[in-house]
Amino acid sequence: MNKEKIWLSSPHMGGNEIKYINEAFDANWIAPLGPNVNGFESDIQNYLDGDNSKGIEVAALSSGTAALHLALVLLGVERGDEVICQSMTFAASANPIAYLGATPVFVDSESDTLNICPEQLEIAIKDRIARSRKPKAIIGVHLYGMPYKIDEINKVAKKYDIPVVEDSAEALGSRYKGKNCGTFAEYSILSFNGNKIITTSGGGALVTKDVAKKQKAVFLATQARDNAPHYQHSEIGYNYRLSNISAGIGRGQMEVLDAHVEARREMFEFYVNLFQEIDGVKVFKEPNEDFYSNHWLTVIEVDEKLTGGIDREDLRNFLEAENIESRPLWKPMHMQPIFKDCPFYGTGIAENMFEKGLCLPSGSNLTDEDRDRIERAILDCLKK
Ligand SMILES: Cc1ncc(COP(=O)(O)O)c(C=O)c1O
Repeated sequence: MNKEKIWLSSPHMGGNEIKYINEAFDANWIAPLGPNVNGFESDIQNYLDGDNSKGIEVAALSSGTAALHLALVLLGVERGDEVICQSMTFAASANPIAYLGATPVFVDSESDTLNICPEQLEIAIKDRIARSRKPKAIIGVHLYGMPYKIDEINKVAKKYDIPVVEDSAEALGSRYKGKNCGTFAEYSILSFNGNKIITTSGGGALVTKDVAKKQKAVFLATQARDNAPHYQHSEIGYNYRLSNISAGIGRGQMEVLDAHVEARREMFEFYVNLFQEIDGVKVFKEPNEDFYSNHWLTVIEVDEKLTGGIDREDLRNFLEAENIESRPLWKPMHMQPIFKDCPFYGTGIAENMFEKGLCLPSGSNLTDEDRDRIERAILDCLKK
């Protein structure tokens, strides 16, 4: 194979990242704190809350997983509790529930956004309450950048007085009714992992609307050190702060975030146009104008009954033979061996999408040449 690999989503540097890293070296701020950490936090804050009307506070952390873990700690989740989680997601959405000795209760997707279904959510909550197991929190995920049905989910959450944790790991730059994803819950999280819309190589953030909550998160993320000249601890802490070097990458990446969103949305349009002439493939779009996705990854559903017998795996294997990466959608958590005994509420939507769904190369750094290769391969596979 001598064709260069086309990745699903690869890091895309803007250029200024190295300037911020050099500043950290010059000032010897080689630590999990420093001017880049503060600068990166205020860059994200300004992005999410341009007019400062929401009082957004951001704590830069070592990963999105760490941010979710701290969100659940701050909500008081403890051993024996239950936490509701969207089933179709990456394992990192659910693992922090298990870190705390709590049990995940998984809820199916709805078919418009592929995110947590408001009806199944309410069924789940009612049933858990009937068993005297009222959930401590609800984790909703904006999968592949598509906002979940925020109004509907918040309405159910409010009715039963259960806090929502917004997993916005994949959705920086997405909006719902004109407002940024990452600002809709008491605690929201972002990820800057290498495959995300912007990256710090590894990193994440916890977003809140209360400075005291941010301060508590930073306290817990820096080993919960009490205010004393010696090392004193009254709570269990974590080592979850973002390094000043990684934050330097993040500052450079924030300068190109809007361009990355635009480029990913253009990739999405490219696929919409391409599949217009192909039967049996549905491209997942925003359900209506309330939703604005960063289209971190473009998602398609392949119906083999309409493609002449070519199924999702046929297409994926065909692309792989052309050295083009594509991936099945996240395998739902209720189907994972590690979570098979956890409660699940649903009707099979996530299972069906796991069988038929495929994520296509969506990076902001893909070239016209890459798009030509992708187009040729897809047409060769599906128009044979
Ligand atoms: C939906 C979702 N939640 C959580 C995470 C965890 O983020 P991180 O990899 O930064 O820990 C990721 C990404 O990796 C994700 O895609």
